[in-house]
Amino acid sequence: MHVRVLGSAAGGGFPQWNCACGNCAAVRGGDPAFEARTQDSLAVSRDGARWIVLNASPDITRQIEAAPALCPRHGRETPIAAIALTNGDLDHCLGLLSLRESQPLALYSTSAILEGLFGNNAFLRTLERHGDHTSLRELGPAPVPLEGPDKEPLGFTLQAVPVPGQLPIHLRGLREPSAMDNVALVLRDRQRDRTLLYIPGIARSFEGLRELLDAADCVFFDATFWSDRELGERGLGEARARDMAHWPLSGDDGSLALLSAHRERRIFLTHINNTNPILRKGSPERAAVERAGIAVAHDGLELSL
Ligand code: MLT
Ligand code: MN
Ligand code: ZN
Repeated sequence: MHVRVLGSAAGGGFPQWNCACGNCAAVRGGDPAFEARTQDSLAVSRDGARWIVLNASPDITRQIEAAPALCPRHGRETPIAAIALTNGDLDHCLGLLSLRESQPLALYSTSAILEGLFGNNAFLRTLERHGDHTSLRELGPAPVPLEGPDKEPLGFTLQAVPVPGQLPIHLRGLREPSAMDNVALVLRDRQRDRTLLYIPGIARSFEGLRELLDAADCVFFDATFWSDRELGERGLGEARARDMAHWPLSGDDGSLALLSAHRERRIFLTHINNTNPILRKGSPERAAVERAGIAVAHDGLELSL
């Protein structure tokens, strides 16, 4: 299995257009302790020729141009055979609107997430320009074989496991939340017995998380915030990490403590908010992550499983 990190930042990216926090100012100023990041997304392939993109970030066209394997090879076509979504947040879906040039797409997600996107959304009709344009394929806890728009198998199964989260901001008040609004994606190459687990948004631990981590060879995990009061401490608002459905890394009950118990897996942190002190190479927080045996993902990172 080939994996490429297309983006590793939380919504807004790094730097974020309206933020002059210490981290954003430093990366804008070219401080070598920081790297700029686009919004989180992964590309995965079995053969290196046909790819599945996990989350379609608003930066997707830049991410494609930065990844030769994702660029078209002739005429009008794309190596991207399928797209799968972990939730309906705009940092994970807005890129769909940039992929609209009548290109057939296979889009996988839960019925709750697909309905939240396509129900009553005039913009998304641009992905339904002809009968074979976007095929919506429903995901749930049972593994389904992934296929491109042409029904060619991609060599993986995919399942969606409910994870504590919240409704996308634009759906709040319109309907009740459901357990399938925010999911982990489990992508498995059965032939080679390799499993990738992608959880870019998680509000807290839940029963079954340890087993999910144990069953994966490689994990990409929510690292939005280091601490619960990270925004408040920087004078950037009152919202706490936990109110925003992001489980902070630090503390006895933080996600890092749990992840470090699974350090024999390859674990990468992603969906990193621009305020997070782990963004600075050499910071005490970054050192604590590294001591825990966990890596910080960066844009363009490639690995083979
Ligand atoms: C999140 O990860 O919490 C969302 O990206 C928030 C948002 O959509 O602004
Ligand atoms: Mn987000
Ligand atoms: Zn910032």
